[in-house]
This record gives sequence, C-alpha cells and structure tokens, in this order.
Amino acid sequence: MEFIVAKDYDEMSRLAADKIAACLKAKPTCVLGLATGSTPIGLYAQLVRDFEAGEISFADAATFNLDEYRGLSPEHDQSYRYFMEQNLFGKVDVEPSRTHVPDGANPDHEAACAAYEQAIAQVGGIDLQLLGLGHNGHIGFNEPADDFPVDTHLVGLTESTIQANSRLFDSIDDVPREAYTMGIGTIMKARSILVVASGADKADIVKRAFFGPVTPQVPASVLQLHPDVTVIVDAEAGAQCA
Ligand code: GLP
Repeated sequence: MEFIVAKDYDEMSRLAADKIAACLKAKPTCVLGLATGSTPIGLYAQLVRDFEAGEISFADAATFNLDEYRGLSPEHDQSYRYFMEQNLFGKVDVEPSRTHVPDGANPDHEAACAAYEQAIAQVGGIDLQLLGLGHNGHIGFNEPADDFPVDTHLVGLTESTIQANSRLFDSIDDVPREAYTMGIGTIMKARSILVVASGADKADIVKRAFFGPVTPQVPASVLQLHPDVTVIVDAEAGAQCA
C-alpha cells in the first residue's frame, strides 16, 4: 500500500486526478470504477480541466460506479447517476452507453445486482477503482458487518450513514434507506485501487482503516490485503498517521 499525505484538499485532488489520467493515457480503453460523495468532487473537476486542456480523453474508456440509492430515478438530483452527470460525464467525452451506475430504479434487486456484476465481467473487470471513505469505514455502501459481502448487493443503510448523507437532502426522511452497492469482492477484484479522504473528521477512520486490524467491522481495512492500493489523504485526514 502506498500512503500519501497531501498538504491540502487541492493537492490531494490533483494527485488523485493524475493517477486516473495516467491510467487513461496508458490504456485509453481502461475501465474506471468511480465513486460519489464530497471528497472526489475536486478530482473530477481536475479531470475535466485536463480533458479541456486536451491532455486526456475518456472516448474509449468505460466506467462503473460503486453504488446507487435504491428507489431514486437517474434524474433525481440526489441520485448518484445525476451526481456523475453533473461532475464528470456531462463535461467530458465519455460515451454515455459505456457509463454504468447500478439501476436504482429497478425494484428487482436480484436482477439489478446480477446485471451489474455481469456488465463488469463482460468488459474484463475494473482497471482502477476510486473509493471514498465513510466515517464508519464503509466503502461504497458496504457498512460494518460480521463478514465481507462479496458481490453487488442490496443494503440497508446504517443510521450514521443516513445521518451523514441527510445534509444533501431536504430532510432526513427523504434519504433512501436502501442502496445497491458493489460488494467487497467486486472492489477487491479491481486491478488497482485509489482511495481519497479529506478533513479532520476522517482522521480517526483513516488510521483505523489503513493501520489497524483487518476486520469487516471496518470494511475499508480489507484494502490492506489488496496488492495495488494507493491512499491519498490531505494533512487533516492523515493527522493521526504520522
Ligand atoms: C457515501 C458513499 C460512499 C462515499 C462516502 C463518503 O455514503 N456511498 O461511496 O465514499 O459516502 O462520502 P464523502 O466523500 O462525502 O465523505
């Protein structure tokens, strides 16, 4: 594992965007696993600038997002599909039919999840998976549990995640209680993994996830077992790891 402490959010975003840009340059047909949340917004903005400067192209790439709320349509302004359209897909040359987000509008969770796993397998797997980190160590929506879920599946969100994500909705009652997420197995199959975390409120979980014991109670800790992981945090999030 490579653990990098950037001086601030902008440097973290730049370094993380550089990793993704390098993947696109080395293999224009690369398959990117993407994440939502506040943390990657800066790195997506940087990738858009790189695209506008003619340095990178997504024209031959494919993308798979980690997760999506169950019950939200792609047009809902809090759906992860909408987030991706606003922050990246709508601003670069990615081919829309090669962008994938779990189908939150499909109430048949078994069909939605199986189709997602199949689509990832069909393109030969994910080359580089980007991850944010939840305050409880969740990755995607894999919440602390007794074991590591393997494949894309339906999850009930924990109270703390509902609380954390309610800042983006009109009221806490509007936050969906369920989501579709790649499993830990899906994530671990990616050939490379890039984790970003920022802010003092992530300092404790960054330390537990990457320097504590590997346990499904801290889902991100499993990444310590992956052969190609880069973690990029800002100084505040890395404060307990000096
Ligand atoms: C959400 C997402 C995760 C994300 C996490 C952290 O619950 N499902 O994929 O990594 O929150 O988000 P943020 O970057 O806003 O702290």
